[in-house]
Amino acid sequence: MTIETLGPAWTEYLAQLAEDERVGPEWTERDEVVLREAERDAEREPEMVIRLALHVGQIVALHAREPHVFVVAGTGAGKTIFAPRWMYREIERHQSEPIESQNYLVFAPSYKVLKRATLPAYIRLFHALQLGTFKRGDLVYELRSGAKVWFGSCDNPESLEGLHVRAAHGDEIGQNSVSLEVWETVRRRLAFFGGRFLGTTTPYNLGWLKQAVVDPVRRGEAKGIRVIGFPSTANPMYPREAFETARATLPRWRFRMFHLGEFERPEGLIYDVFDEGRHVVPPFAIPVKWPRYAGQDFGLKHPTGTVFGALDPRPYPDDVLYLYAEYRRSERATSDHLADIKRLAAGPLRRMWADPRSVQLIADYRAAGLPIEKGAAGPGEVKAGIQEVYTRLAEDASDGLPRLRIFRGLLPGWLDEVERYEWARDAAGNATDRPVEYADDLMDCTRYLCLGVKAHPRRALPRERPGAPEPIAAGIWTRRF
Ligand SMILES: Nc1ncnc2c1ncn2[C@@H]1O[C@H](COP(=O)(O)OP(=O)(O)OP(=O)(O)O)[C@@H](O)[C@H]1O
Ligand SMILES: [Mg+2]
Repeated sequence: MTIETLGPAWTEYLAQLAEDERVGPEWTERDEVVLREAERDAEREPEMVIRLALHVGQIVALHAREPHVFVVAGTGAGKTIFAPRWMYREIERHQSEPIESQNYLVFAPSYKVLKRATLPAYIRLFHALQLGTFKRGDLVYELRSGAKVWFGSCDNPESLEGLHVRAAHGDEIGQNSVSLEVWETVRRRLAFFGGRFLGTTTPYNLGWLKQAVVDPVRRGEAKGIRVIGFPSTANPMYPREAFETARATLPRWRFRMFHLGEFERPEGLIYDVFDEGRHVVPPFAIPVKWPRYAGQDFGLKHPTGTVFGALDPRPYPDDVLYLYAEYRRSERATSDHLADIKRLAAGPLRRMWADPRSVQLIADYRAAGLPIEKGAAGPGEVKAGIQEVYTRLAEDASDGLPRLRIFRGLLPGWLDEVERYEWARDAAGNATDRPVEYADDLMDCTRYLCLGVKAHPRRALPRERPGAPEPIAAGIWTRRF
């Protein structure tokens, strides 16, 4: 395959994937064709596949000693192709361990990326080395040594759960559909054997990968993690003209992300006014008199989420809502969710608003003592909620900071979602008026919360003006009550 087909600009790459038939877990004829092509490449010139001279960025990544290695590089920079070598080295390192413990994991954001890009790269190298056979039905490569490399994808979360593995590779892990939970799940699977991780991706957003991995490394706060970045042109095969055309034609942020491998904020985010420097504030002890509220989203496969907010009781525009805690967990019993939600509320909640469709769960939560009720329902409710959150993010209180603030260090999931929450696109790539369906759990909670607070204004307290004479209205006010 040529570089044009394997390393095109990101949009073309995704468009190409989108054009394919839906790719699911079952092994199809088209999957077979792709697999055969990779095998033929390996058979035709095994030496070329095995001895491909790695470029500098790939060599640095291969020799990095840290347990977690992240290659965040431009499109077509040679990320996917080098990963099977890294994995093979890990497999060799553990070959004298008990055979039943020699399990490895490779995953991609979706079956499409897995079967069209990641898996063929593994098949090419493993077939050239004649390591074993690929079991199509189970998506597992069984080495003759007995070691097993399992292939999974984020659209089938079960494929990421299960065995403890000795090493894992995640391809395109920065993609919007890959959540912080995926990274946490994979880390759990690696923890038992202290296994190593390789993540390869182009930067797509400023979500968890930047916040939880790259930024801490840059600040010198993360141990055992190495982040390696290089542009598309680090790959000697990357066509220089394509790179220059991209530089000349793409928006600057896009070129910097997809071709230089640098993090930039993509255009088109729903909460594009969000600015960590202004919206994230140091936590403080919430005064007892401030009402606490929460927004709730229920999920079975999706996580159940809660966002907790404490409201400054002063009148507009000082009615600042401080998000002080979050909860986001999947596949747990209602009683477990309830226990954690009550603990995180850290004080009595005044009201709590939830997805209005979850009638039974709302009743269950009420029965368990939470002051929960249906959030706003009906057509336009999603947009109205987004509008209210947006307004709070955009408007300032009289201290010059926004009316929605987030406690630093306490809402990592929220900060991840806000940087990935965008309008869904139609087949032609145009933004619709629906938000995407990933990175939306805590964003939904925040909609319910902000609309609820807006629809239930408390009686405004008189403005505190220390030293100023009491306005006459205050006297009237007192007499009336
Ligand atoms: N060191 C190298 N020498 C020669 N060719 C290379 C090298 N590294 C990668 N290539 C070739 O460049 C192309 C792109 O490689 P690869 O698919 O690994 O890139 P990628 O960074 O994963 O791209 P994408 O962003 O599309 O996922 C492939 O055809 C691959 O064979
Ligand atoms: Mg790739």
